Formats: sequence, C-alpha cells, structure tokens
Amino acid sequence: MAKRASVHLIATGGTIAGVADDVNAPQHYAAGVLTAEQLIASVPGLFAVADLTVEQLYNLDSRDMTPEHWRGLARAVHAALARDDVDGVVVTHGTDTLEESAFYVDLVTQSPKPVVFTGAMRPANAPSPDGPMNLLDAVTVAASPKARGLGVLAVLHQRIHAARDVTKSSPDRLDAFSSGEGGVVGRTSPIQIFRAVVPREKALPVAPDGPLPRVDVLLIGAGSAPDMLEAAREKGARGVVLALPGNASMPEAWRHSVIAAAGGGVTTVLVARSGKTLPPKPGQEILPALVSALPPAKARVALLAALGAESDAEFWLYV
Ligand code: SIN
Repeated sequence: MAKRASVHLIATGGTIAGVADDVNAPQHYAAGVLTAEQLIASVPGLFAVADLTVEQLYNLDSRDMTPEHWRGLARAVHAALARDDVDGVVVTHGTDTLEESAFYVDLVTQSPKPVVFTGAMRPANAPSPDGPMNLLDAVTVAASPKARGLGVLAVLHQRIHAARDVTKSSPDRLDAFSSGEGGVVGRTSPIQIFRAVVPREKALPVAPDGPLPRVDVLLIGAGSAPDMLEAAREKGARGVVLALPGNASMPEAWRHSVIAAAGGGVTTVLVARSGKTLPPKPGQEILPALVSALPPAKARVALLAALGAESDAEFWLYV
C-alpha cells in the first residue's frame, strides 16, 4: 500500500484566516484572526488527502509583512523540509504580498519537495468563502509527487503558479492572480502540470541575523524628479529599483543621479513598470546600473535577498 503523504502547514494570516463582524458585509473584515488549527478544522476533507502537522508562525495582514518576516518564514520552511516525515509544505498567507514572500522563499530554497503558498480573497465566514477550496487544493498539490521539483508554487482559484511569475492582478476578483506571458504551471482538481519549471542551479543563502538592507522601489512617470533617488540614498537605501516606462527607458534627467548613486555604493536596477523588460538597449548598459527582467516588486525582493546574503545581485535579478 502506498504511504500516505504528510504535509506541514505554516500559517501566517491573511484573509484566508480573516473574519467579518457582519457576515452580510464580508468586505469589512479583519485579516489574520483564525488559527492554523481552526483553518484545518474547517476543511475536513484535508485529512483524506494527507497527514497534517501545523505551525502558527505569524497571524498578520500581509501588508504588514517585512523582509524580516520573509527570513523567519524561509527558516520555518527549511526546518519543515528537513524533516523526513514531511513530503511537502503549505504556507497560508495574505494575498496582498503573497507574491513577494513566495518569491523570497523560492530564491533561498533548493528542495524537490513541494512548497505551496495559498490564500483567499474572501474571509472565512463570508457566505461563499474561497479559502477552503484553495487550502484543499494547496494541500493536495503539496502532497503530490507531480509537484516535486517545480520550485515554490502558489495555488489559488484552481491554478498552480510559479512563485517567480505569480502576481496579484485584481484587488477583488476570486480569480485574482495571474502569471503573465509565462503562463500558469498547471491546474488543480485534478492536478495537471502544463509546463516544466527549470530548476535553478543554486539557491541564495537566507540572510544572516541582523539588519537587512533597505531597498526602495521608485515609480518613474513623465517628468518625475531624480532627487527621489538622492533621498533614498540619504535615507540609507543600499539598493533602488527604478520602475520605468517602456522597456525600462530611463529619462536623461536621471542619468547624473544614477551615476552619483553608484558612486555612493547604491545598486540601481532598471525595470519596466509594466513588469516585462527586454535585454538592455544600446546606451543603457553604459550606465552603472543593472537591468532586471523581473517586475518591480520581485526585482526588489531579488535585490534585497542578494544584498542581504552578500551575493551577486546581477545573477539573482535575472532568474
Ligand atoms: C492580506 O493580504 O493579508 C489581506 C488581503 C488578502 O489576504 O486577500
């Protein structure tokens, strides 16, 4: 008889653990109220899928997550993955910054065991909550041999996304997440994998204890003032992501400030604010700045993770 899969669930809060005071007004609710035990007790079907252990790491609205939380989360995920009795890990998380936490954990993790993030758009006591289905699907994916070797995943609304690609693209739809041109990795119920995720040759170390580097994102529009970059530098930023129009097209007025930032030890990264950046155009590469193919929020995660681990930022901005 095949061994039953064992999944470790790490709860961090979010709307999936959210409760509305008035079930007739479910849009007014507090995120991060229910505990991990309450979450799994509300979905009895979970126990037919896998043996479960649970851990309440945080209970936050994910807007309040910080890079320090990412570091703590990565350590908790690694501790679970190191257990022989764990086949996969599920992280419940608020949807607002799920894509950032999942990408950080992806960058610092190298394990064939599935790590699956999930969340919900409706609080747990809404008339028709999406959390229970998402949780059941996430545990099913984490327990499945089909999900091994795919890196960190996000499972929401019957779609399986790669952590590198997933973004929240709607503030209210149940189908709130998309994976851009790369497309989703697969779907659930039943699990189908549409495309391979090429494993990275290495993982970043988790940043050691101590303060993490400050990395800011500046959104540049027509006529935006370059003194924003000087302000970031003065406030102690070690990295700045410039989210630029077009194909990361930097206004000439910014050239001097980018050169000065590099002289001051600040790593500047140019990305397209649309989220898709092609390789540098002639002229861009003579700037003392890096270009990343990642969308702005993910470029910030990669730059922060690389600077925090004193690793080669250029490599990690092109994963
Ligand atoms: C949060 O991100 O914690 C609140 C919003 C959500 O989970 O959908």
